[in-house]
Amino acid sequence: MISKTVFVLFTNLILVNCKDFASLSHLKPKASLGKQEDAAKDLYQRVLGPRAGEFVVKVQSNIGPKEKDTFLINTKEKYVEITGTTGVAAAMGLYYYLTNYCNCQITWGGRQMAIPSPLPKVEGGSVNITTNDKIRFFQNVCTVSYSSVWFKWADWEAYLDWMAMRGINMALAFTGQEAIFQRVYMGLGFTMKDLQDHFGGPAFLAWSRMGNMHGWGGPITQNWIDDQLILQHKILERMRSFGMIPVLPGFAGHVPEATILHYPTANVSRLRDWGHFNKTYCCNYLLDFNDPLFMKIAVRFIKEMENEFGVDHVYSVDTFNEMRPRSNSTEYLALSGRTIYKSLKEADSKAIWLMQGWLFIDGGFWKQPQIKALLTAVPQGEMIILDLYSEIIPIYTQTESYYGQPFIWCMLHDFGGTMELYGALKLINEGPFNGRAFPNSSMVGLGMTPEGIFQNEVVYEFFTENVWRKAPRDISTWISKYVLNRYGKTNKFIDLAWQYLKVTSAMFDRHNSW
Ligand SMILES: *[C@@H]1O[C@H](CO)[C@@H](O)[C@H](O)[C@H]1NC(C)=O
Ligand SMILES: *[C@@H]1O[C@H](CO)[C@@H](O)[C@H](O)[C@H]1NC(C)=O
Ligand SMILES: *[C@@H]1O[C@H](CO)[C@@H](O)[C@H](O)[C@H]1NC(C)=O
Ligand SMILES: *[C@@H]1O[C@H](CO)[C@@H](O)[C@H](O)[C@H]1NC(C)=O
Ligand SMILES: *[C@@H]1O[C@H](CO)[C@@H](O)[C@H](O)[C@H]1NC(C)=O
Repeated sequence: MISKTVFVLFTNLILVNCKDFASLSHLKPKASLGKQEDAAKDLYQRVLGPRAGEFVVKVQSNIGPKEKDTFLINTKEKYVEITGTTGVAAAMGLYYYLTNYCNCQITWGGRQMAIPSPLPKVEGGSVNITTNDKIRFFQNVCTVSYSSVWFKWADWEAYLDWMAMRGINMALAFTGQEAIFQRVYMGLGFTMKDLQDHFGGPAFLAWSRMGNMHGWGGPITQNWIDDQLILQHKILERMRSFGMIPVLPGFAGHVPEATILHYPTANVSRLRDWGHFNKTYCCNYLLDFNDPLFMKIAVRFIKEMENEFGVDHVYSVDTFNEMRPRSNSTEYLALSGRTIYKSLKEADSKAIWLMQGWLFIDGGFWKQPQIKALLTAVPQGEMIILDLYSEIIPIYTQTESYYGQPFIWCMLHDFGGTMELYGALKLINEGPFNGRAFPNSSMVGLGMTPEGIFQNEVVYEFFTENVWRKAPRDISTWISKYVLNRYGKTNKFIDLAWQYLKVTSAMFDRHNSW
């Protein structure tokens, strides 16, 4: 008896250790509970309009376990009370109530908000839901260029409401970074013309930011740069007030061509062509990791962001996205990891490096020793890897769960913002559970990393329930409920049509290829 108890305690301990990285415990909302509660109230007002008066919303951090989010729904005689551990959790509680009890739906394509009156009661009068993971991440570095580049604040506001209602508590906040880079580079003697050659045009920033190409679709104007910075202030303010953690960019080593002019002794190399751009736009310069200029730019960049709008300690840095490193030596790759990590830490002692795992899809280059060299150059728990395409090509399974570094199980789903009908419902129904159950799993969250949005809403409604679902669901039953929410009533022909889409695999068993 005694040994069994000891054994159970011991395994629990291992599980806890494995998933709750102490090194990530400082990643949490910055805003006060009162501020988060106000942000949630405002969201309820935007979403519910005149019916908002029938809801009471509260934010209390102590209603559930640490490192997870919880919401409670209590239906009273005359109103519904929703309490969340954060502003995000309170927003998620509202969407849970709307979809599960009111048969409503809010997607990119439209809203079905025929909320019953009086408000439905929940069974037993109360519901208590805790998320499965610490982190729910959203956005791909490409999403902005495929889908949201022309967003005004009103579009961002709706977009952030959409995220909050699905429990997203960590999201890319890349807007306006050119203004910061501009200050850093101009402080180092570069000119606006140098930077216009370096930055892409507004619609192509995703790729110039990743060093894939430069200048294409430009030149970018000062007006655009300034306006985007103003927009970024609003985005950050709203994210933080919900209790989300914005992910800011870091410096990855890609520098303007004029570096060879202003810093003739800098050790730079040229990356290969990406996407068949010609010499005017391709083959960006990469600063060597040993060059002192690397540290200088990286640190100044973060300090400049800190001065401008504050930081949240998570930085996204991808040096080799779809671009092979110059050497496959483990020393070189370890140096790259060490340098990026060191530069982040030097600027912000609480920095955590977020990296897309997409590069590892190139198995011709990234073999086990190369991946291991890069990842283990960073102290355990000080980086987070986005397993970017977990539903189709998981990498955590090939790397002993990223050699112990925390990772986020992500559904990529969409390449290039394409608008076809597809989605791999079966795989995203089961995949996240397999990720958590993987031997020595270092999974810390769920993510969605579509290159483009505004398509196949059914897939996103389905996926985001994984945030709180405790087991995979019966897909046909779920589809019927989705259809009811979408149209607001039951119609056997519509239901049949949707079931038919599923059964014939015309839609739900396919996935996009790139
Ligand atoms: C809600 O459930 C969580 C565990 O999932 C528990 O820690 C918490 O105490 C519960 N809260 C209430 C008010 O029942
Ligand atoms: C430039 O960087 C490369 C790659 O790290 C290194 O092999 C080389 O020795 C460096 N050159 C100089 C002059 O430091
Ligand atoms: C690259 O293509 C552009 C047109 O798309 C052209 O203006 C430019 O001269 C080309 N550059 C080179 C080096 O061929
Ligand atoms: C690098 O690649 C070459 C061949 O392309 C191979 O012979 C060598 O073993 C690789 N180095 C490492 C450290 O894997
Ligand atoms: C899990 O980790 C333990 C301790 O590091 C190790 O001994 C074991 O081999 C690992 N299991 C798997 C399946 O990787």
